[in-house]
Amino acid sequence: MQRPQEAAHELPTIMPLASSIGSPRFIFGRRAADPREAAVDDSPISIRAYADRDFDDLVARWHETNRVSYPYVEERLGHTLEDARAFFRAQIVPACSVWIAERGENLVGLIAVESPWIRQLSVFPEHQRRGIGTALLQKARECSPAELRLFTFRRNDKARAFYEKHGFYVVALGASPAPEFEPDVEYRWVA
Ligand SMILES: CC(C)(COP(=O)(O)OP(=O)(O)OC[C@H]1O[C@@H](n2cnc3c(N)ncnc32)[C@H](O)[C@@H]1OP(=O)(O)O)[C@@H](O)C(=O)NCCC(=O)NCCS
Repeated sequence: MQRPQEAAHELPTIMPLASSIGSPRFIFGRRAADPREAAVDDSPISIRAYADRDFDDLVARWHETNRVSYPYVEERLGHTLEDARAFFRAQIVPACSVWIAERGENLVGLIAVESPWIRQLSVFPEHQRRGIGTALLQKARECSPAELRLFTFRRNDKARAFYEKHGFYVVALGASPAPEFEPDVEYRWVA
């Protein structure tokens, strides 16, 4: 996701810090439906604005999630944690409204919105498919109530299923900027 100006997907930009959005913190929880999930922490998730203290842990988890989520994008595999830190500090924090999902003391995901663009959405692997992406998307809708847009890789089946479930439709097919040239897809949602 991300793009106009950067490697489409997980690299983006713009707008004052999330805390200025002033959206109230909200909490939700979802019970494990499958007994095999009983050992998984199912305590409530809270969504709050990004704070500077989150930076080290958050960027490390986001970077690792990107690495395991897009193994087919060779260019991305060359990105180091330092690259990710520099990108997040220079491109995401100053430009986007950034929201964090937390479970207890643990960061479990983030969304970065440069209205109407979702620049980053990441739920860390062990917390996926438990409603956290949906909660983060709801926060994006609060930030940009009329419209949301994003890029994702065409091969990102999980994300495409996720967005389509939430009413996004395909606007265009293209490719992420050089040097990646990974086929991508632009999605849009309108209220
Ligand atoms: C895409 C992503 C944000 C979804 O977040 P999530 O917390 O797992 O999603 P939710 O639990 O809120 O929603 C689950 C829905 O998403 C879709 N989905 C999520 N994972 C899926 C998978 N592995 N296979 C098929 N559909 C999937 C389904 O529609 C699912 O609904 P269902 O469980 O009723 O079938 C998350 O998988 C993620 O961060 N992936 C890695 C990074 C990434 O691809 N980010 C998006 C970049 S554009």
